Amino acid sequence: MHIAIIMDGNGRWAEKQGLPRTMGHRAGVLAVEECVRAAANLNVTDLTLYAFSTENWKRPRPEISALFRLFNGYFKNKALELKKEGVFVRFIGRRDRLSKAVLKTMYEVETLTQSGDRLILNIGIDYGGRDEIVRTTNKLIDGVIRRKILPSDIDEDLFFKYTDLGFNRPNPDLIIRTGGDRRLSNFMLWHAAYSEIEFSDTLWPDFTH
Ligand code: FPP
Repeated sequence: MHIAIIMDGNGRWAEKQGLPRTMGHRAGVLAVEECVRAAANLNVTDLTLYAFSTENWKRPRPEISALFRLFNGYFKNKALELKKEGVFVRFIGRRDRLSKAVLKTMYEVETLTQSGDRLILNIGIDYGGRDEIVRTTNKLIDGVIRRKILPSDIDEDLFFKYTDLGFNRPNPDLIIRTGGDRRLSNFMLWHAAYSEIEFSDTLWPDFTH
């Protein structure tokens, strides 16, 4: 069972309590921790979380920095615990616009946790569905130019393998979006073809039990 989540509503959660938006993201991290724990304990094999979209670069600089500090902190502090729990963390999205420090943390977490076989946790950072489709197309073109792929080999299965999600994992069975908006906002456009979609008005930091 693969569940993918668009974690929306951190900003409004904070504003509702007269707090700065970044406090909403901080509370969002706690909800992420609970969600990962719950997924690992349930019958979920794959969990994909949309943490930062290709469009999120348009946000104010201080908010972007605060978000990346949170990502870095979470993965640095939790890497060993995630490994112990059998969680394999992978990142989906572009890698060419992230800082060296973030890339280093991502590499370390992916390497440390790669033996995890209880839950695959995909984190979307600088991820956009259209961007992924364009990058996948370019990877295939490159393969054809290098004569590793024949144009006639390209079908839906091969295309899927070359997406960020690739390597024989299931498509999301269920996509959840919190925070009240009813749209996909460029999330997993290729993989969402047959997913059930659940919209919740609950703001992400409150999406706990
Ligand atoms: C959307 O809320 C949320 C984000 C842009 C960031 C999501 C990030 C986290 C939940 C933090 C932790 C993640 C990890 C993987 C450690 P919003 O700010 O758009 O809320 P709004 O719509 O109410 O303004």
